[in-house]
Amino acid sequence: MKIAIIGTGYVGLVTGACLAKFGHEVICIDRNEDKINLLKKGEAPFFEPGLEELLSNPNLSFDLDFDKADIVMCCVGTPSDSGGNVDLKAVNDVIEKHASKGEFFVMKSTVPLGTCSKIDHPNVVMNPEFLRQGSAIKDTLEPDRIVVGTESAQSQQMMQNLYEPFDAPIIFTDLITAELSKYAANAYLATKISFINEFANFCESKGADFRKLQQSLKYDTRIGPEFLEAGVGFGGSCLPKDLTAILSQSDKNDFHVLRGADKANKIQKQKIVEKLKSQMALKGRKIGILGLSFKPNTDDMRDAPSIEIINALKEEGANVACYDPQGKSEHNTCQNPYEACDDSDALLILTEWEEFRGIDLKKARRLMKGDTLIDGRNIYDPDEVRAAGFNYLGIGL
Ligand code: UDX
Repeated sequence: MKIAIIGTGYVGLVTGACLAKFGHEVICIDRNEDKINLLKKGEAPFFEPGLEELLSNPNLSFDLDFDKADIVMCCVGTPSDSGGNVDLKAVNDVIEKHASKGEFFVMKSTVPLGTCSKIDHPNVVMNPEFLRQGSAIKDTLEPDRIVVGTESAQSQQMMQNLYEPFDAPIIFTDLITAELSKYAANAYLATKISFINEFANFCESKGADFRKLQQSLKYDTRIGPEFLEAGVGFGGSCLPKDLTAILSQSDKNDFHVLRGADKANKIQKQKIVEKLKSQMALKGRKIGILGLSFKPNTDDMRDAPSIEIINALKEEGANVACYDPQGKSEHNTCQNPYEACDDSDALLILTEWEEFRGIDLKKARRLMKGDTLIDGRNIYDPDEVRAAGFNYLGIGL
């Protein structure tokens, strides 16, 4: 099948590269010429493990426009506007400019309920993407499930054929249910994170053992082991945005749980600053920071908790020295973790990059002026950190 993918962000590029791997003829379209030129050279415009290897596939091409395709897939962004509503400008541009060039029009962007049913095209499909940054290729090639919203037998058959090589259950729904399935998944994940963060905080205040509590939850198959890591709050391009979006589409009497999850996350991002303030006055201090991206294995800074945390530290009069292996931030000025430690009064871990687990803690402590280490992702064994001479504080630990 000839597939035109519109938008070469995470969803578009990863989907395109994976469909090409399965033998489809894929053309990835973006109006950003610089991005297309980069892609033509085989370079990915963002860091995602395993992606560049998939770009050098003869089935895959890149361009600013195309003529015709069997399937047109809309993979452009749907950011929140300043009022918390979904900005559909890019999606509407795609519908207007490209939808009629395909026999089938597949929406992969996360769109508000009712968007797909309004599209004037005989074969509209809503096919949400559940990939995570950092493991996007694996998530796409080995999905837990595939959700397909269609309102014609022809579209359903085409999607069945398209996903034939994937070993995953396909859930066929109507358009609105497929739209909602994406919001529901991300809202649930966000809620699970806020839930565990609040229990971590509560363990701390009551003197309960958070690690053991976590274990007791993870072994319960009804709860499951994933998304129960406490930290500095969830960020990224999806969870915060989609939570805001579903709330903005609901009545104030709907979704009390989700409103709570959202509020808890806002509070969680400030907790680490409060923790630090409980150890020292911040004015004039130098704070070393390890990790800026919203999660490891990505350079993405969208809604990263580090942004608000750094702003709060600066408002208190502190200076920061930051190191992240990839994070695209003006604050990412140190060349390695030890440079961030050098002469610092305290060290904060904000992203759980593998590299940070292996640092020489004794060396880090020797380089620092102060002894406080706040592990915002619970990556260390508190006893080991204390043995290296630190005053250790974790999340719930
Ligand atoms: C998310 C969804 O997981 C994915 O299905 C959807 O398609 C896009 O949004 P992503 O934003 O890439 O993916 O990251 P994810 O792994 O879900 O993490 C989101 C945030 O939650 C990160 O800031 C992460 O640090 C945080 N998180 C995650 C926790 O704090 N604790 C956890 O246990 C898991």
